[in-house]
Amino acid sequence: MNNRRALITGITGQDGAYLAKLLLDEGYEVYGAYRRSSTGNLGRLQELGVADAIHLEPFELLEFSNILRSIERIHPDEIYNLAAQSFVGTSFELPIFTSDVNALGVARILEAIRVVAQGDIRFYQASTSEMFGKAAERPQRETTPFHPRSPYGVSKVYSYWLTVNYREAFGIHGSNGILFNHESPYRGLEFVTRKITYTLAEIRHGMKDLLELGNIDAKRDWGYAGDYVRGMWLMLQQDTPDDYILASGETHSVREFLELAAEAAEFHLSWEQTDGKWVGTDRRSGKTIVRTSANLMRPAEVDELLGDASKAATKLGWKPDVTLPQLVAMMVESDLRRVREEGR
Ligand code: GDD
Repeated sequence: MNNRRALITGITGQDGAYLAKLLLDEGYEVYGAYRRSSTGNLGRLQELGVADAIHLEPFELLEFSNILRSIERIHPDEIYNLAAQSFVGTSFELPIFTSDVNALGVARILEAIRVVAQGDIRFYQASTSEMFGKAAERPQRETTPFHPRSPYGVSKVYSYWLTVNYREAFGIHGSNGILFNHESPYRGLEFVTRKITYTLAEIRHGMKDLLELGNIDAKRDWGYAGDYVRGMWLMLQQDTPDDYILASGETHSVREFLELAAEAAEFHLSWEQTDGKWVGTDRRSGKTIVRTSANLMRPAEVDELLGDASKAATKLGWKPDVTLPQLVAMMVESDLRRVREEGR
């Protein structure tokens, strides 16, 4: 034990699980904040072997008084705010809820920190490359202007600036991690990488016929979530709070990710385009296994993201270890095993 206490919101998600493991390994006492509605969703924490070591804390980002009471009682040294309505596509359907959780939720936490102990609680805000949106330059740096393309991105711009403002106005040790997409076998099934690896595994095991996708020409800078949570922790170990990009420095299209995943699952795709839609056929079996659908396109899209993480490299000594082909192999292998076991 290092006598330090950390509170992680969004403990049931991919990043919450990896960060909890890292902080426990570093000797922290870890409090995991979860929405009452996400109880029973402890699978990731169980698989990583940390569920029993965490103090679970019911927590609701829409309700100020319960945030205040939790922070008063736990009095953590560090708070990592990973909780969010994090589905970009869904934010077009739920813009007000998304803003309440992602923007005002952060105002509630920062106000609680200000009331309880503004000087001695360090705060990490999960900011995102979605803030760059229709990006003004390539690669994106900490100084690149924001142009969000979804209610999700807009809500995250608010929480980014509020964290900066509370730092400047009240001296709160608040840092923004501007994280580019980060994936793993624990990524939610709604996000494109995991949707691809899981559905290909289902097709491989004969449990599904078709993978339907939206815009496969969108490009993202994908890294491994296990590498990125280390960067979050490093940000809060600095004497001076600041904002940092974490990214791989490479960009690839959804189509490229899909092709790598298909090869790893032993499919070999040929593409054809009809009426603006793409159809991918497995050359060996002759079966169509991928199709694009207009229903899965977003009303406004972020065409390409590419991050420059050199500030994090210089100041934090952070560098990602896992490459994209390693990440894809890890995810496909895990899903082939998972689907095989679930199918028994
Ligand atoms: N989800 C999804 N489902 N996306 C698809 C699909 C599909 O069937 N088909 C194509 N895409 C495209 C999306 O249009 C987008 O351009 C890209 O795949 C990636 O989508 P997601 O995996 O849903 O992630 P995201 O980039 O929108 O957002 C993720 O990364 C952000 C960091 O940049 C989320 O984790 C955000 O919460 C995070 O902030």
